[in-house]
Amino acid sequence: MSIYRAKKAINKIPVCLSGIMLAIVLAGCPTEMTEQPSYKPQEAPLLTPPASSVSTQGRAGGLRDLASPTTATPKSIEEGRYLFQIYCTMCHGEKGRGDGPVGQKFIPKPADLTSARVQQLGDEEIFLRITNGFQTMPSFKKDLTPQERWHIVNYVRSLGVKGG
Ligand code: HEC
Repeated sequence: MSIYRAKKAINKIPVCLSGIMLAIVLAGCPTEMTEQPSYKPQEAPLLTPPASSVSTQGRAGGLRDLASPTTATPKSIEEGRYLFQIYCTMCHGEKGRGDGPVGQKFIPKPADLTSARVQQLGDEEIFLRITNGFQTMPSFKKDLTPQERWHIVNYVRSLGVKGG
């Protein structure tokens, strides 16, 4: 191919591209006009739920498991302590004070589980935070059975009672 012909071919590229773009835009138009994020008359706005909210359909997980909390027997608390050392101390620290080595990289830092703010949460709320995660904290739904999560809730509660 001569330089002249090559140049001519290159010159055609923008024309081709704009043709393709036009085709894409036109193809996209007719249906997308009806599927837009704006609210239609009488339609309830689609609000984003707060991070800690719970689905009433139980889709977020955890609600069904809430029905069977495990009583805070010394055995359950001990089991919870054991699991806490494995799954929580790296972030929340040995005594749950939020001073675990991995946790120091988090903004905000992991909560002090002995604090009044965490201790005034309901058992269910702590259970759901472990189940679904909380802000930057990961979910433990896949790693821990509901019963294991309840053991941990009982242990976290005992931290408040004893003051750490
Ligand atoms: C990878 C680090 C990490 C691990 C592991 C972790 N957490 Fe957390 N946790 C956090 C961080 C960070 C926060 C604070 C999140 C925030 O306030 O935005 C938090 C917050 C919490 C809170 C307080 C929520 C609130 O309402 O303020 C509880 C309760 C909690 N964690 C329990 C646990 C338990 C129990 C475990 C073990 C099953 C655990 N966490 C494992 C990082 C972690």
